[in-house]
Amino acid sequence: MCGIVGAAAPRNILPVLVEGLRRLEYRGYDSCGVATLENGTLARVRSVARVADLAAQIDAAGLAAGTGIAHTRWATHGAPATRNAHPMFSRDEIALVHNGIIENHHELRAELSAAGYAFDSQTDTEVIAHLVHSLYAGSLFAAVQAAVRRLVGAYAIAVVARAEPQVVVGARAGSPLVLGVGEGENFLASDALALAGTTDRIVYLEEGDVAEIRRDGHRIVDAAGRAVQRAVHTVQVGDTGAELGPYRHYMQKEIFEQPRAVADTLEGIDAVTPELFGAEAAALLPAANRVLLLACGTSSYAAMVARQWIESLAGLPAQVEIASEYRYRDSVPAPDTLVVVVSQSGETADTLAALRHARGLGMSASLAVCNVGSSAMMRETRMRFLTHAGVEVGVASTKAFTTQLVGLYLLALTLARLRGRLDAAGEAEHLRRLRHLPVALAAALALEPQIIAWAERFAGRQHALFLGRGLHYPIALEGALKLKEISYIHAEAYPAGELKHGPLALVTAEMPVVTVAPNDALLEKLRSNMEEVRARGGELYVLTDADTRIASGEGVHVIRLPEHYGALSPVLHTVPLQLLAYHTALARGNDVDKPRNLAKSVTVE
Ligand code: M6R
Repeated sequence: MCGIVGAAAPRNILPVLVEGLRRLEYRGYDSCGVATLENGTLARVRSVARVADLAAQIDAAGLAAGTGIAHTRWATHGAPATRNAHPMFSRDEIALVHNGIIENHHELRAELSAAGYAFDSQTDTEVIAHLVHSLYAGSLFAAVQAAVRRLVGAYAIAVVARAEPQVVVGARAGSPLVLGVGEGENFLASDALALAGTTDRIVYLEEGDVAEIRRDGHRIVDAAGRAVQRAVHTVQVGDTGAELGPYRHYMQKEIFEQPRAVADTLEGIDAVTPELFGAEAAALLPAANRVLLLACGTSSYAAMVARQWIESLAGLPAQVEIASEYRYRDSVPAPDTLVVVVSQSGETADTLAALRHARGLGMSASLAVCNVGSSAMMRETRMRFLTHAGVEVGVASTKAFTTQLVGLYLLALTLARLRGRLDAAGEAEHLRRLRHLPVALAAALALEPQIIAWAERFAGRQHALFLGRGLHYPIALEGALKLKEISYIHAEAYPAGELKHGPLALVTAEMPVVTVAPNDALLEKLRSNMEEVRARGGELYVLTDADTRIASGEGVHVIRLPEHYGALSPVLHTVPLQLLAYHTALARGNDVDKPRNLAKSVTVE
């Protein structure tokens, strides 16, 4: 999704801006650009290709400056095109980059057009540039404060003015923006990750903050316009990572990293205690009488598995809500609810808004299961569990999902322990199974050659159906999402019992039906559903465990995982589905790491 970098320094900051954009690249974007201020002139370079192309254009133009802003854009208003790429200019005097969506841009556009401003783009962003220009009266800091008061929606912005050659002003509401503190130089970025290698001293700007950076310092005002000091954190953000090593794609690398990611997530955990979730958990978790899980996409499927674990292990009623729906529906809050947000990035706008909505409804016991320690969700919740998947670059989430499951399983066990439903021996056995997961995951990964054979058959199909039951219905959903996301094959998932209530009408010999069939209590029921498919000529692709009696035959292709892994079986059954999506997309020649129309981190609504 969109990314921002800004800098004010007594050196050429183009390398910092380009490197920052490069670090944010993996989030997905369709154009990029940079604006610099040097010798009283605003210069701009934009590209609808990759950041590497932008860098080449910058070199060719011989651009060098001490003040500048840069951006990667993921189109919301206006097609991906050079004229819609940021930075936006206003009369060659103001340049501005923006993440987010301005909801009242139509009214502002009309007002500014009437005042004589010409619009060159279809974006909502250009109105902010003109608005700042129209309000400028000698202080960019003041103009931005006045401008953001007129904005409705979500924004993080960085702005420069030709008249103030050593100043960059930023503001945020609803979209993240950080300030990087350097030695005699300062920075703005939509994520501390963009500044890795430049500075690790980070100020997290708060909702409504407006900040000015100069070479020699910075100042911040809050939403009410009061001068404020915000804490400077030392943040180890590391690198995006992410060398590919022997892998062709980040998604492939991340699938194969799962044994390591799960082991790292479990590192140092030798007891199931509230402290795993932070200092407040010992007081807050025992008070929870129900659990509300909020998430989007793949993370919502992890939440759906967790709901069943929490109910069966801890005996607590649990509910999953798609964050984008929950925030807008009338719901009945219960103050004794533990609100759990599940997110790889910790910045997903809908999940963050749902968390705030739940808090606004009086449910203040909140917990994040998240892969980014410095993210907004980790900062806004009272309890937290950091998954140690490592930076996930591929847009299709893989290792984040399996490590979320591990974190959520630990939560279910902790709640079970607190409620007297799990004794020490039981706890030890669960931990032993968890610790063995990396080995079991490696065995699941070893199925790759068999999955490749399936993928070759899937590559020519237009549709696929995924079936699962119980704990594995969310895994069927995840398999279908993975396949559609990167192979662009239309895929749907159903709880297998629903088949005869409608989707059976779709089943023909042309419709591959993937069935997640572990050796659990629902296996016999699932076998009946599989018979229903076969009776209609449907071709079954069955993921089962070593200890079932399901056999390959005409129209039935079976891949066996290791023997059944009990309640943690969803973690293992996910892996072949990830590999199936990956190899099918490869066979179709798709850009696996950057699927069309999608962004890694969805920071707009
Ligand atoms: O960062 P989050 O986990 O909050 O992201 C939620 C979804 O946007 C994400 O899981 C998305 O569905 C992935 N592209 C799935 O592979």
